Amino acid sequence: MTLTAPESLSAGPAPRHETVPPVKLWLCPNDALPPAIAAVLASRWLDERENKTAARFLFERDRRQYLVAHTLVRRALALEAGLAEAELAIWRSSRGRPFLQPLPGGLPRGGDHLDFNLSHAGGYSLLGIVRRQRIGVDVESLEREARALETILSTFTPEEQLWASGAPVGRQRDRRVLRLWTLKEAYSKARGLGLGLPFDEFSFSLADDRGVLAFRPPADDLAGRWRFLELEPVPDVLVAVAVPADEGSAQHLELHHGFPWDRAAPHTIALPEPVGAPQD
Ligand SMILES: CC(C)(COP(=O)(O)OP(=O)(O)OC[C@H]1O[C@@H](n2cnc3c(N)ncnc32)[C@H](O)[C@@H]1OP(=O)(O)O)[C@@H](O)C(=O)NCCC(=O)NCCS
Repeated sequence: MTLTAPESLSAGPAPRHETVPPVKLWLCPNDALPPAIAAVLASRWLDERENKTAARFLFERDRRQYLVAHTLVRRALALEAGLAEAELAIWRSSRGRPFLQPLPGGLPRGGDHLDFNLSHAGGYSLLGIVRRQRIGVDVESLEREARALETILSTFTPEEQLWASGAPVGRQRDRRVLRLWTLKEAYSKARGLGLGLPFDEFSFSLADDRGVLAFRPPADDLAGRWRFLELEPVPDVLVAVAVPADEGSAQHLELHHGFPWDRAAPHTIALPEPVGAPQD
């Protein structure tokens, strides 16, 4: 079977009469999964490639983060698809984006398409799952080195740099830099491009507190096609989600905390309307 990355951003419009399933978002702190349990689950669920990657980490802290992130992916996808964790075939595009390999007869729990995206940072794993479309997610902790934040800032557009630098040095400025960064990562990860998309080729205008006011896309995309959600589910942990706003796309997101041992009730959040380009 030839496996190529789907380049379209949507798997096609949903029939109008169908209820559109919500976007699922899982935020899991490393503490939610004790290391010994993570190791047992990983030995049963992860594939050869994942196990090899886990074995390569020099620091135990990094291995732990990786094992929590990847057991979370397999557990949440298994629940969503109706398959066993170890049965999920996950492949990567030439740019490193993981995809769930479709099953010829569709998924046991309905539908034939699931997209997901993972981010892990600062002791948290964030996983977004969506049916029909594409999703990009990013999580960042505000505890970042000042030098790293200056480097990040230098990759933004001049308007974004001006806006971020307009806040007093310290927490407020760091927050602006990381809000822009998580949104940019979420967008480029939804597109499957990762850091292959220069971050000064598209820009966000943000509200002071939270929320995207305008989005100027890169040259190969159109304005008004995306919904962006910013969250701070835990103090000083910033999350961004990007999903296409095609006809039949999800209107809501379900936010789950912790490891998916059971189907505890999530928080339901309305996805913001798609945003257009800034008025020049
Ligand atoms: C994707 C990328 C932006 C991640 O940035 P980051 O902030 O360090 O990491 P995050 O924790 O937010 O995300 C990492 C996860 O994103 C996913 N990912 C990797 N490449 C991706 C891509 N091109 N698009 C979307 N998601 C991607 C993976 O699940 C990865 O975690 P994993 O490797 O443990 O499975 C960056 O790694 C990147 O640009 N990679 C592409 C590199 C590339 O072009 N490689 C080409 C082959 S050499």
